Amino acid sequence: MTATPAKLSGDEIVALTRKHTLYEWSAQSKVDPIPVARSEGIYFWTPEGKRFIDFNSQLMSVNCGHGERRIIDAIHEQLSTLAFANPFMATEPRARLGAKLAELAPGDIDVFFFTNGGAEANENAIKLARQYTGRHKILARYRSYHGATAGAIALTGDPRRWATEPGMAGVVHVLDPYHGIQRGWDDAATALANLEEVIQLEGPHTIAAFILETVTGTNGILVPPDGYLEGVRELCSKHGILMICDEVMAGFGRTGEWFAVNHWKVVPDLLTMAKGLTSSYLPLGAVGMRRQIADAFKDKVFYGGLTYNSHPVGCAAALAAIGVYEEDGLIARAKATGLVMKRLLADLAARHPSVGAVRSIGLFGIVELIRDRKTMQPMAPYNGTSEEMAALGKFFRQEGLYTMVRWNTFYTNPPLIITEDQLREAFAIIDRGLTATDRAVRP
Ligand SMILES: Cc1ncc(COP(=O)(O)O)c(C=O)c1O
Repeated sequence: MTATPAKLSGDEIVALTRKHTLYEWSAQSKVDPIPVARSEGIYFWTPEGKRFIDFNSQLMSVNCGHGERRIIDAIHEQLSTLAFANPFMATEPRARLGAKLAELAPGDIDVFFFTNGGAEANENAIKLARQYTGRHKILARYRSYHGATAGAIALTGDPRRWATEPGMAGVVHVLDPYHGIQRGWDDAATALANLEEVIQLEGPHTIAAFILETVTGTNGILVPPDGYLEGVRELCSKHGILMICDEVMAGFGRTGEWFAVNHWKVVPDLLTMAKGLTSSYLPLGAVGMRRQIADAFKDKVFYGGLTYNSHPVGCAAALAAIGVYEEDGLIARAKATGLVMKRLLADLAARHPSVGAVRSIGLFGIVELIRDRKTMQPMAPYNGTSEEMAALGKFFRQEGLYTMVRWNTFYTNPPLIITEDQLREAFAIIDRGLTATDRAVRP
């Protein structure tokens, strides 16, 4: 007899994980995880065989879909050849991944520092910016998430930051062009004027960098108004401030381009990535830098490091994931399927009074729900929930649709391999779910 049973039931898995492991961002008595045993394509299954459509690509990250043999085989092969080499050594996966990313990244971004994930990519972007400019302040936006490590959570503008304050010194938050469903959007010129005012008030010579999500993820799939990113690029260049684009979520095809900055043809000074880099088959992040920044560290030491920097198996997984994006044309496919999703979202907005706004770019989408068509009062308050939003989440789960329901919103972020039929199947479930939220709406 073995000490541990070969298979646990879903209930047993949930009970043990709740007893002996800590769930993130949660009061532990409230967590109600879905037990998951296997996955394939756009689906995953519980141990008892209940099927879910993964309409959030887990954490907006399994872009190639589940069970992709080419990535799994590449990991196996690398593991059996060279499972680990420390970061002072040169390995083939590291060599090939650096060269490949240099080919894919915009402009003259062609040197990369590898990390374990997104937060560490941002931590190292800050280190690079501070050491390169000799300045210390970092501008960041309120409606943002940049990770949970000490520096990255200080950059984060949303309520996940609050419990860690006072955090890293020198971070200044600025407002976004978006002000929530009731106040709506600033145009690019207004948003840029506000940004420049903050730069003047803080002293441009004290600011090392401005970090922003090119398309904001968990704070609402905020697609910047045309002209905004171009204007940020100009302001940063004018004042010698480095522009850091955080594409941990938006990169690797999520928006229908390799990198979201490509939509506006903007080249940031530093570009951070993770998630889709390996399609989440293994943890890996990276910060890409323009040649002139890398050159500054030719004779000057870069003070930064990690035991698992450039992990050979992580690099092999990334190379294989990039191979899948290329061989299967997944970036172009996300763009095309994204247009279908845009029409399906518009159709929801036209037919459901509880839909206050829909936004999407590629396969990166969101629905914002409201309870009052005149005042546009959200269906749940900022940083809160409501009976209706909780019931909607429950309905999705019951119907086998997995996605993220947060505040007054829910997300539509399927793997890039999703077919039109599968997309319509998911939207049919959403459509039925919204008939309940419609009943809560004041005309
Ligand atoms: C835009 C963005 N930046 C950074 C991170 C942090 O990445 P990680 O959780 O891999 O540290 C996330 C994670 O969701 C993210 O969405």
